[in-house]
Amino acid sequence: MNTNSFIFQTNVQGQYRTKWKAPSNIALVKYWGKYGEQLPENPSISFTLSQCFTNTEVSFSEREPGGVAFDFLFEQKKQPEFYPKIQKFMERITTYFPALKRHHLSISSHNSFPHSSGVASSASAMAALALCIVDFEKQFHSDLTEEAFLQKASFLARLGSGSAARSIAGPLTIWGYTKAFSQSNDHYAIAPSVEWHPIFLDYQDTILIVDKGQKKVSSTLGHALMQDHPFATQRFEQAHKNLGEFKRVLIAGDLERFIDLVESEALCLHAMMMTSNPHFVLMQPNTLSIIEKVEDFRLQTQLPICFTLDAGANVHLLYPLQHRIPIIDFIREELVIHCQKGQYIEDQVGNGAKKILV
Ligand code: PMV
Repeated sequence: MNTNSFIFQTNVQGQYRTKWKAPSNIALVKYWGKYGEQLPENPSISFTLSQCFTNTEVSFSEREPGGVAFDFLFEQKKQPEFYPKIQKFMERITTYFPALKRHHLSISSHNSFPHSSGVASSASAMAALALCIVDFEKQFHSDLTEEAFLQKASFLARLGSGSAARSIAGPLTIWGYTKAFSQSNDHYAIAPSVEWHPIFLDYQDTILIVDKGQKKVSSTLGHALMQDHPFATQRFEQAHKNLGEFKRVLIAGDLERFIDLVESEALCLHAMMMTSNPHFVLMQPNTLSIIEKVEDFRLQTQLPICFTLDAGANVHLLYPLQHRIPIIDFIREELVIHCQKGQYIEDQVGNGAKKILV
């Protein structure tokens, strides 16, 4: 793909204020390993969430040309620990949005979920910021289609955090080239107009907070460790194969195979981390206790619940809305004791980011 097509020949200038709400997402096929400028070694697919989101407001004001310039408030407070990541993101995207060199950005962000919950917020945060930026650009580009707008937002979000590319649209998004989906590519995520089985359109994701702490391994380091990983080739092949199978499963509503694939992907992600050099064991005793109890519960009740994991100790439980009541009872009675301060978040599949009127 010629990425120059993302450089719009428009003279963006002046003042503008906008606000976007972007959701988090949970990967079914995991992205782990990258090349070039934030391009994925394997395709991934995720459910877009709805209750875990970031709201970001940006005020753009014209200034003398120079490097990137911004101020940033998170939860209405200055939080300098976030500045380097935003700075790096803005420097990376300047090629695709040169007006950043002539505008100061006042950014204010708020998460619906606690920042210190161990739930990754970089996907929703980068997606919301990217949307505000493309929205400003759109004001000077009257023939920009909705599709091109979303593609560019996903493209920019990806340059902030790979998985953020999948936090623009919904209910299911695919990022990275796979022969299973004709429009798929490594540069931005797509939400193909496939008739997914309706059971997945309001699928539940209950996030059990096992550890609220900071990630033990940064994504940047984790992805880099895939470069000389002894199982990298097999892992990338497996992800391609699983993605192809997910297409069938998600259209047919084959829950049995869905469960097998989702859990296998989660455990393979952790297996990659455990066999990297250096290695990382991110699951904790409570993660394993939850997994064991979920497997027993599924066997006893035949309810279609499964677990997935991010690069951390928290557990995402995925299940159909129609089984919510017995599953929430099970979570309260059996699993909450394994959560830090008994904390869990109830989420479900959603349809993507939205503009908020300011
Ligand atoms: O977006 P990053 O670079 O933080 O990578 C996230 C990778 C996983 O969350 C572990 C998997 C995924 O596909 O979301």
